Amino acid sequence: MPSFRTLDSAEVAGKRVLLRADLNVPVRDGKITDTTRLERLTPTIRELAEKGARVIVVSHFDRPKGQRVPSMSLAPISAALRDILARDVFFADDCIGPVADEAVAKLKDGQVLVLENTRFHAGEEKNDPAMAKALAGLADIYVNDAFSAAHRAHASTEGVARHLPSHAGRLMQRELEALTAALEHPDRPVGAIVGGSKVSTKLELLGNLIGKVDVLVIGGAMANTFLAAQGIGVGKSLQEADMHDTAREILARARAANCEIVLPVDAVTATEFKANPATKTVPVTEIPADSMMLDVGPKTVELLKARVATLRTLVWNGPLGAFETPPFDAATVALAHTVADLTDAHKLRSVAGGGDTVSALRHAGVSDRMSYVSTAGGAFLEWLEGKVLPGIRALESLEGVVFPA
Ligand code: 3PG
Repeated sequence: MPSFRTLDSAEVAGKRVLLRADLNVPVRDGKITDTTRLERLTPTIRELAEKGARVIVVSHFDRPKGQRVPSMSLAPISAALRDILARDVFFADDCIGPVADEAVAKLKDGQVLVLENTRFHAGEEKNDPAMAKALAGLADIYVNDAFSAAHRAHASTEGVARHLPSHAGRLMQRELEALTAALEHPDRPVGAIVGGSKVSTKLELLGNLIGKVDVLVIGGAMANTFLAAQGIGVGKSLQEADMHDTAREILARARAANCEIVLPVDAVTATEFKANPATKTVPVTEIPADSMMLDVGPKTVELLKARVATLRTLVWNGPLGAFETPPFDAATVALAHTVADLTDAHKLRSVAGGGDTVSALRHAGVSDRMSYVSTAGGAFLEWLEGKVLPGIRALESLEGVVFPA
């Protein structure tokens, strides 16, 4: 378990606290479609406000690339945060400069202020020292609660921590504790389920996991590439022909590392990719030339259920099939229920993350039955790749904050 400075040691009463949150919530047609990130922030904001801090929330939203893009304003998200917190939340339409200074100066103990999108300034993504200094100038203490943005070395996630006493917020703390327990010091055996469409985008992740887990389940279209690399005809299935050598190399490395790779043994196939087409379930060695595998079959599901039941820890990233299009959600839903049941029975610690994974678990109705579901997308993947996230490193490198080797 990493040791890092949490809010327990933060003396915040009467202090200006710059809270780096991740307010980058999904929005469609001007409406927030998922408020999970806002809800997960509330413990930190409430704790700080209740301890008498003047809470100054900063965040990016979307990718305005250093321009003021009105549709990417944090104003509506700040209003949503106010509703969720059920307390006043003030808003200032700049995150540095006179507008921000004035809003911060007016803030009283226990009050919450949200500043406008940090990415309206080009200095944010460049990690410009002047921007970091300007942000730091607003506050006495920095609290980072944005694990999901910790893979970005930006002024508000990294640079600012060089100037202020820094602490991990409660959400950051929970993310780090859950992720560390799952991969750094897991109860064994530990397994991972990795889905997704492309081996090429998950190479580093697979490479890192091979060295850490005992069992690695490969699902999604990525499995097709692994099957094809072993000379199995996968018909019209999505696969990356130029990754066959790489896939074989991964298999060989896994063998050498004593990591068992589990690939599908049967497939639900169709000739067309659309909702509810005619399907055929066949062994993976018999995928018809005019068909594609769109989900793993029931034999694979039984195999995976049995395999997961032997594990003490499971990390899940990526669905097993094309879960957004029925009936190709069946395997993911069935396995998600098994994982949830094992977790409920305290037999398994289950940690899931990554955009698609969270939607798939929600679709299965079990997202609140995992031990932990990360709010992070890209940061979760980079963490699975074994990378040190700059936002975490910034907290870690502070005097008095020691992470174990
Ligand atoms: C996310 O949504 O994954 C984070 O907020 C990071 O956003 P970004 O990919 O635009 O940096």
